[in-house]
Amino acid sequence: MINFFSRGFPYHRGRRLRQNQNFREIFSESNLSLNDLVMPYFLREEDDNPKIEGMPEVYRYNEEEIINELKNISNLGIKSIAIFPKVPDEKKSDEAEEALNNNNLICRALRKIKNKFPDLIVICDIALDSYTNSGHDGILDSAGQIDNDKTIKQLAKMAVSFASNGCDVVAPSDMMDGRVKIIRDALEKEKKINTCILSYSAKFCSNFYSPFREALGSKKNIGKSSKNTYQINFKNKHEAIKESLEDIQEGADIVMIKPAGYYLDIISELRKNCCVPIAAYQVSGEYSMIKIASEKKILNYKDSVLESLHCIKRSGADLIFSYFSKEVAEWMNK
Ligand code: PBG
Repeated sequence: MINFFSRGFPYHRGRRLRQNQNFREIFSESNLSLNDLVMPYFLREEDDNPKIEGMPEVYRYNEEEIINELKNISNLGIKSIAIFPKVPDEKKSDEAEEALNNNNLICRALRKIKNKFPDLIVICDIALDSYTNSGHDGILDSAGQIDNDKTIKQLAKMAVSFASNGCDVVAPSDMMDGRVKIIRDALEKEKKINTCILSYSAKFCSNFYSPFREALGSKKNIGKSSKNTYQINFKNKHEAIKESLEDIQEGADIVMIKPAGYYLDIISELRKNCCVPIAAYQVSGEYSMIKIASEKKILNYKDSVLESLHCIKRSGADLIFSYFSKEVAEWMNK
């Protein structure tokens, strides 16, 4: 790049390589494939409400519905899903005991899913926010502060429990310090040597998680409280790289940047600095912005979705979590 000296016009006409669709296709520098896409799903108890106001056309599935849905997904060629539970209020507690219940929503779903779809890669969030009264990702001490070291012990147990029920990839999304190391140690000790760790290593304290919190039912729990003592300040880049490199040292097989669209500089910087796969999460708020603007005919839906995903790919992501994944797979199959 540095040695490029253009003789200028007309020896160089950039438009020659853009003259028609085939030219543009063969010279595309990055391409999106089915292998890049992870489809996230929200799970619910039988009698809970499927509809999520802030995320049109994204639903919460009960155990039977998710099995039917996964038939479609597998036929489309999607190889990986991520599952998130909406835990009923009465099962939430200060110490998030439900997270360790071998019969909780995630564990039951894992057993059913892996029984029917043994090869589908199932990724589970490791964080306590679905299960705590506070809506925080960790357990609070008597002063109302997150107890980091107590929390990570619980997360390690949660990871072992999910792995024992068939989870292929545990994904700590809590941003506590030291959790990757303690999870890896716990998995090894329990002979879960093939369970991968996808660390949400650079998870920013973002406003764009808001529809997700509605989906999960943790919005009212978290209230006006913020996750800013553990999630990264969106003004920071070096800190995001440091957190990711530390997680790789602690044993993360895959690292993640989240959100994706506004954080492409972080993805591309990390790509230059590490050689493990990088995942990016196009989060709920990114989904809803495109979805709702398209419903109002402000944006062209398909073109905007594809642009948003291609740009994430171009920045250096190997794997993209996106609520558009299924629909994009349908377009790719046509
Ligand atoms: C929970 C978690 C969050 C997301 C994934 N895991 C929300 C949060 O940290 O509050 C956000 C995903 C999305 O917005 O789509 N730790």
